[in-house]
Amino acid sequence: MGRGDAETAHERTVRLTVRLGAVPPVVAGLRRYFGAATPRTVFGVRFPGPVGLAAGMDKDGRALRAWPAFGFGFVEVGTVTWHAQPGNPRPRLFRLPASEAVINRMGFNNGGAEALAARLRALGPLKVPLGVSIGKSKVTPVEDAVEDYRSSLQVLAPYADYFAVNVSSPNTPGLRGLQDKAALNTLLGALDTTVPLLVKIAPDLTEQAIADVLEVCAAHGVAGLIATNTTLARDGLAATDTMAAEETGGLSGRPLTARALEVVTFVAKETAGDLPIIGVGGIHSADDALRMLDAGASLVQVYTGFIYKGPGLIRAINRATH
Ligand SMILES: Cc1cc2nc3c(=O)[nH]c(=O)nc-3n(C[C@H](O)[C@H](O)[C@H](O)COP(=O)(O)O)c2cc1C
Repeated sequence: MGRGDAETAHERTVRLTVRLGAVPPVVAGLRRYFGAATPRTVFGVRFPGPVGLAAGMDKDGRALRAWPAFGFGFVEVGTVTWHAQPGNPRPRLFRLPASEAVINRMGFNNGGAEALAARLRALGPLKVPLGVSIGKSKVTPVEDAVEDYRSSLQVLAPYADYFAVNVSSPNTPGLRGLQDKAALNTLLGALDTTVPLLVKIAPDLTEQAIADVLEVCAAHGVAGLIATNTTLARDGLAATDTMAAEETGGLSGRPLTARALEVVTFVAKETAGDLPIIGVGGIHSADDALRMLDAGASLVQVYTGFIYKGPGLIRAINRATH
C-alpha cells in the first residue's frame, strides 16, 4: 500500500514508537520534556498527568513503554475482545485533513484478550496507569455479549488500573444497543471486579439516554464515565473532505470538539460532579483541554489531535494544567 494510506502511516508510527520504547534513557529524557505535569488522583488511581492516550491507537499494547515519552499521563489500550479478530477489510481508516478529522471503521481488529494479558504479564510494571478497553467479539451474538466481556475482564484484571466498558463503538453491529437501559443494567450487573469500571458512551445519545446510562451506572457503583466515542454525525466538515465524509464509520477530531464538550457538561451537571469523567473528543489544543476540565472532566484523552498536532499537544496541555 502507498505512503498515502492512513492505516499504513498509523502502523509506521506505532512501529517507530515500539522501537523508541526499547531505549529507556531516551524515554526518560523525552518524558521530562513532554510530560512535566501535575499529578492527580481520580477513582483511587494516581495519574502523573491529566492527558491520556485514547483507546484504539495501541489496541494490543505494543508500545506501552514508549507512550509516556510523549507526555501521556496514562494509556488506554484496546478495545480488545475475547476472540482475536481481523476487523473490517481495508481501507477502513480515512483522513479528512482540511477538517482535522478522521473516519474509521476498524471494527476492533485485535489479538484478543489473552494475548494482551500475556504481553502485559511479560512487560511488568509500567510508568503510568493503564486503562484496558473491552468490547464484544464480532462472532459473539449480542445476547451472549455479557460472557464475552466477563471473560476478557477476568484475564486482564491483574494488569488494569481501570477498565473501560466500550458500548459505544459504531463499528460492531449491535454494540451501541448495549447502552440501552436494560441491556446496560444486565451487562454491568455481570461485571464483578475490584478494578474501577468506567463506561464509554457515544456522543450521539440524547440527553434522556445519557440520563438513563447515568442512572444504571450509579446503581452499579461505576467508577466513572468516558465521554465520548466517535460520532455517526457528519457536521462541521470542510468542503474539500466531502468524498471521505461519505465513508461509513465513526468520525473523530475537530468536528467532535463541541459535541463532546456538551456531553461532558451535561454529565457533570446531572451527577452534580460526583462521577469522575474522562473527557475525550476533538481536543486539539490546550484550550480545548482546559474547557473539558472546566466543564467537569477530571482527566482528558486524545487520539485524532495527536495525529494532527503530535506530542507538542500533550506538552502544551500538561503545561497549561500545571
Ligand atoms: C482509528 C481509531 C480507532 C479507534 N478505536 C477505538 C477503540 O477501539 N475503542 C474505543 O473505545 N474508542 C476507539 N476510538 C475512539 C477514540 O478513543 C476517541 O474516543 C474518539 O476518537 C474521539 O477522540 P478524538 O477526537 O481525540 O480522536 C478510535 C478512534 C480512532 C480514530
